[in-house]
Amino acid sequence: MLNFEFHNPTRIVFGAATVPSLAQLVPPTARVLVLFGGASAEKTGTLAEVRRALGTRVVQEFGGIEPNPSYETLMRAVEQVRREQLDFLLAVGGGSVIDGTKFVAVAAQYEGDPWTILETGGATVSGALPFGTVLTLPATGSEMNNGSVVTRKATQTKLPFRSAHVFPQFSVLDPTKTYTLPEKQIANGVVDAFVHITEQYLTYPVQALVQDRFAEGLLQTLVEIAPQAIAAPEDYATRSNLMWTATLALNGLIGAGVPQDWATHMIGHELTALYDIDHARTLAIVLPALLDVQRDKKRAKLLQYGQRVWGISNGSEEQRIDAAIEATRGFFEGLGIPTRLSAYGLGMAAVDNVVGQLGAHGMTRLGEHGDVDLALSRTILETAL
Ligand code: NZQ
Ligand code: ZN
Repeated sequence: MLNFEFHNPTRIVFGAATVPSLAQLVPPTARVLVLFGGASAEKTGTLAEVRRALGTRVVQEFGGIEPNPSYETLMRAVEQVRREQLDFLLAVGGGSVIDGTKFVAVAAQYEGDPWTILETGGATVSGALPFGTVLTLPATGSEMNNGSVVTRKATQTKLPFRSAHVFPQFSVLDPTKTYTLPEKQIANGVVDAFVHITEQYLTYPVQALVQDRFAEGLLQTLVEIAPQAIAAPEDYATRSNLMWTATLALNGLIGAGVPQDWATHMIGHELTALYDIDHARTLAIVLPALLDVQRDKKRAKLLQYGQRVWGISNGSEEQRIDAAIEATRGFFEGLGIPTRLSAYGLGMAAVDNVVGQLGAHGMTRLGEHGDVDLALSRTILETAL
């Protein structure tokens, strides 16, 4: 196992009808900004519940945070926080609203150009406003981690940042809040969580026995519950398992003490920024191709993954790896998510554009070995055509 530190300060309040607990979770004297996305939080009644729980506190609202939250929109929230001297943020939504809130929490106190928060990956962050979340979409794990991804629309640049200062103080996870999600968002959520696990698991063995078993358990859980999660929107047992699995997939636990990849995510971010493809869909395109191209370096873990997650034990090593990759692709396709660039109307021109943007953003040494340079990214994208 590699050396590691593990610290996660986010308090989780999980279960049906837990939104009223905001009354205790948010400090009584807080001047609150509630941040949300488009129409869903209002339409589903969640915002009304939040308002009720916050009671007589000073509360303002900021709506309109879009999927793949934009720097341009978030800077308007930063202005509101500063102008109105608000001191506590509450995100109500999915990963985009939570990520956006993390950025606002930092930028509101930041001296200098806030874009440098993203350009430096969070290295220059020295503080943030406190914030909590009410999660309405299980997928990103943002509700219990210290990462955020923001897009500058003007330059089609989507960059992540991390900082110990942007763990949510608390997150309210009510699985019944997911009942209103369209099928497509559930499928996206399953795939995003799945790939968060593979980014931390499908690398090379370091004798991290518990992390491996934990990751395999989370992957198997997703495979087991995905059909029912889509078929039966109001099945509480299934939705609660999906929600907790997605949180555990990226709260630091399975990633502690193991090598991590993240090349699929970095290549996927460029596809979203250039072509507006949903985050999870970009992962479904890139991952099977990346596993194929990296099969020698990932050999031991691919064989372990095939056997323990998909029960693949017959055939030569090459055949078992092929079968594991095909099982992964079939799982994504079975959820209605195409795994080829061509299915999104993209071809060689897109490969050139994505490679160009990876270069422009310094994404030239990706993966657990730092060996995914621009040439290898090109090969992966060509394999995904
Ligand atoms: O905008 P509204 O109207 O609220 O609709 C949203 C949005 O259109 C809708 N929605 C959310 N909850 C709903 C609902 N509709 C009905 N009922 C509900 N309960 O869902 C749509 C998608 O929401 P979004 O927040 O964009 O989805 P997701 O949670 O998948 O977040 C994606 C973003 O997270 C980033 C991605 O890059 C992307 O920008 N990620 C963040 C990570 C992190 N912080 O650790 C890790 C991930 O790898 C990912 O990169
Ligand atoms: Zn993701």
